[in-house]
Amino acid sequence: MEPSLANIPVIEFRDVAYTLPNGQGLIEGVNLKAQRGETLVLLGRSGSGKTTTLKLVNRLLTPSGGEVRVNGVPTTEGDVIRLRRSIGYVIQDVGLFPHFTVERNIGLVPRIEGWTAERIYSRVEELLQMVSLETNLASRYPHQLSGGQRQRVGVARALAADPAILLMDEPFGALDALTRNQLQREFLSLQQRLNKTVVFVTHDLREALRLGSRIALMEAGKLVAVLPPEDFLRSSDPLAAAYVQAFTDGTESVANRGVS
Ligand SMILES: Nc1ncnc2c1ncn2[C@@H]1O[C@H](COP(=O)(O)OP(=O)(O)O)[C@@H](O)[C@H]1O
Ligand SMILES: [Mg+2]
Repeated sequence: MEPSLANIPVIEFRDVAYTLPNGQGLIEGVNLKAQRGETLVLLGRSGSGKTTTLKLVNRLLTPSGGEVRVNGVPTTEGDVIRLRRSIGYVIQDVGLFPHFTVERNIGLVPRIEGWTAERIYSRVEELLQMVSLETNLASRYPHQLSGGQRQRVGVARALAADPAILLMDEPFGALDALTRNQLQREFLSLQQRLNKTVVFVTHDLREALRLGSRIALMEAGKLVAVLPPEDFLRSSDPLAAAYVQAFTDGTESVANRGVS
């Protein structure tokens, strides 16, 4: 068969290591593929190497060993600016510019790419609707928004130039449970329409099960297992089982209350 872009993983890690200048290894031996249109979740406790792994995709970090390929091309080859513009990035506290309006924040990349003011304006309007925000919020500043609204703006900004890849680093982690639930639901319906290749970082099994087409479990800088949600739930891997047990303990303790 002809090799074509369709057969190449959108993101591929080949035996990737990342080591700090002082010699401390943050991740090691990571092999991972993300296929077009899937939501690959990186699940692991705090400090397990999830953010480091994510930053290797858009070359905020470069591997100390092995290589990371995006559409078949190692991230160390080619233009890093172009690479970053083809990848949307959403982080927990969003990183909106506080002195820019919502409209300017969302229009950041289109402006850099030289779009006309008119085109930027209509794109911002479209994006606000896409993330379920009133278009009259465009003239507000980040501090005039709720946490949930700010995260939506962060998602809109990441989608502005229609990148094929979206990296999301605990984007809903700081939100209250109800708002988080709503944003998860909206993410699912948005992803159904947009079909991006998403790498989504979380430490929350419930979120991983709900959003992930596959779950990549990390521990101490290593990839432990990569499983679809239904397999994760009955995995014999001790760490995966521990996650499921912790999750079940939480729901059972509530169910048993008042019984004993
Ligand atoms: N620049 C750095 N200098 C020193 N330690 C770091 C640096 N970046 C990350 N670490 C450490 O590496 C480990 C993995 O970090 P990280 O990838 O951010 O984990 P996670 O996102 O899973 O919480 C953590 O112990 C973290 O403290
Ligand atoms: Mg992190």
